Amino acid sequence: MDIRQIVIVGTGQMGAGIAQVAAQSGLEVTLVDVDRALAEKAKAGIAGRLDKLVAKGKLAQADKDAAIARLHSAGSLEEAKGAQLAIEAIVEHEPTKRELFVRLDQLLPKEAILATNTSSIPITRLAAATKRPDQVVGMHFMNPVPVMKLVELIRGAQTSDETYEAVKALAQKLGKTTVVSRDFPGFIVNRILIPMLNEACFALHEGLGTAKDIDEAMKLGTNQPMGPFELADFIGLDTVLAIAEVLHKGLGDDKYRPSPLLRQYVDAGWFGRKTGRGFHQY
Ligand code: CAA
Repeated sequence: MDIRQIVIVGTGQMGAGIAQVAAQSGLEVTLVDVDRALAEKAKAGIAGRLDKLVAKGKLAQADKDAAIARLHSAGSLEEAKGAQLAIEAIVEHEPTKRELFVRLDQLLPKEAILATNTSSIPITRLAAATKRPDQVVGMHFMNPVPVMKLVELIRGAQTSDETYEAVKALAQKLGKTTVVSRDFPGFIVNRILIPMLNEACFALHEGLGTAKDIDEAMKLGTNQPMGPFELADFIGLDTVLAIAEVLHKGLGDDKYRPSPLLRQYVDAGWFGRKTGRGFHQY
């Protein structure tokens, strides 16, 4: 299937990032949130980011204008019912996602593919909520979406080869490189990344070094763009903890138990960059 028209549900950082890349890649994109004003706000944010690229000489004004013309904001799913693909990027709450998948299944054309950007909820369970489980797939983009090259594709137990091939071709059209993961907790990236961030929290708790020194050690010692605490603050400590809990529960092994220090930071409301305080101050 040649996908040209897509709907993105959820206009947070991930939804907006995916919408930006899709519109820049020539797709017709409808950005939907519960309130049209939120979708409008996300569209304005994308226009602002594209303006910066124009100012830096990295994007032609005409290409920016064309991308923005392909981006439509909406306050309800009905406005996007002709879409060939939906990418869901709403809150990481399984009942809410399941409810959305039921609605998308009812509204979208029968050949449309339903994708989720979830970082931790089983694709197989979301697929089972629909009457087209073979057309449900995970498309896990990385933050910040316009910069990061990877899209992890996750095949649920029921995902068909046709669905997988169609979203793989689409991700390539967006300029991304794909890897395929089986549908097990954390998929590939978070299965390996989150235990590393969690281990950094244990190390800090034990007094192995300061947050600054641990970050510096990992950044310069292993050539990573951000140290573990910088990255955890960037992802959001609430999100890091939630994924750590999914790994612990889903894999049933105590080696994945979340660090008590991480849990305490989340209890204190220190979620990282988005709240102005995490392991570092912003
Ligand atoms: N949106 C769009 N573009 C952005 C951006 C954003 N939020 N943040 C930075 N950029 C762009 C900048 O505009 C700049 O572009 P140009 O080179 O064209 O000017 C480029 O990225 C580099 O930015 P900076 O020079 O400001 O800063 P930097 O060199 O420190 O890079 C970074 C910033 C790209 C975020 C880099 O630090 C990095 O790669 N960090 C690691 C990010 C990472 O690991 N992400 C994955 C998180 S895990 C995940 O997402 C999965 C999950 O489920 C938790």
